[in-house]
Amino acid sequence: MILILLGAPGAGKGTQAENLVKQFNLQHLSTGDLLRSAVADGTELGKTAREYMDAGKLLPDDIILGIIKDYMQQNRDSGLLFDGFPRTVAQAEGLSELLEGRDVQALSIKVDDNAVIKRLSARRSCRNCGKVYNPVLGIMPAGANCECGGEIYQRDDDRAETIAKRLEVYHELTEPVIDFYRAMGKLLEADGSGTPVEVFEGIREVLV
Ligand code: AP5
Ligand code: MG
Repeated sequence: MILILLGAPGAGKGTQAENLVKQFNLQHLSTGDLLRSAVADGTELGKTAREYMDAGKLLPDDIILGIIKDYMQQNRDSGLLFDGFPRTVAQAEGLSELLEGRDVQALSIKVDDNAVIKRLSARRSCRNCGKVYNPVLGIMPAGANCECGGEIYQRDDDRAETIAKRLEVYHELTEPVIDFYRAMGKLLEADGSGTPVEVFEGIREVLV
């Protein structure tokens, strides 16, 4: 199965993906995490990605679909969890062409914009492994660094003006992807407004 997590920035896609990959034995591909690694490694992809990410804009569809095509070829036999992809209708159509008969299920995690702004302003991440922390939720490592030893930092795109741009892009370009999967009869929806544990319970109820 290919499970697609949809939802606004800060909806909790990454947080819930950690639970879902364990529960359903899936390989997790977060396009955002992959692009942040490329930025950290200073690759050509990373240099391009940085410009778009810092501006809160989406990378071009052909770049993202190229990454997904390679990943799917390398993981033909595994269940996959896509987090942050597809983000435009063109990406969703591109994915449909790559499926080769594989079943797909989309899950939309719903939260309002005010919750997103609060969550993203508070989020801290590990620069090395990408693990997400949140002092407001009391989710922080015991010491000053991540449990992997990496530096804890605030993502550049979690500044107020970039959060606003990401939300605008989400409403304009990514919300139509929800309708795309609804029209295919492949959409499940879960309330993302409770605590992370409550949200996961809600997801399990709709998924099983
Ligand atoms: P990406 O990394 O995918 O960012 P995003 O979609 O904006 O989502 P986030 O990672 O910010 O939020 P999340 O839903 O994962 O929430 P999280 O669990 O961390 O993409 C970044 C950029 O890369 C894009 O802007 C774009 O430029 C580019 N990009 C990526 N994919 C692309 C694509 N397909 N096409 C083109 N460009 C692409 O939670 C957020 C915070 O809230 C955390 O602190 C967490 O602890 C907390 N939290 C989580 N759940 C709860 C809860 N239930 N209650 C309270 N707090 C909670
Ligand atoms: Mg994420």
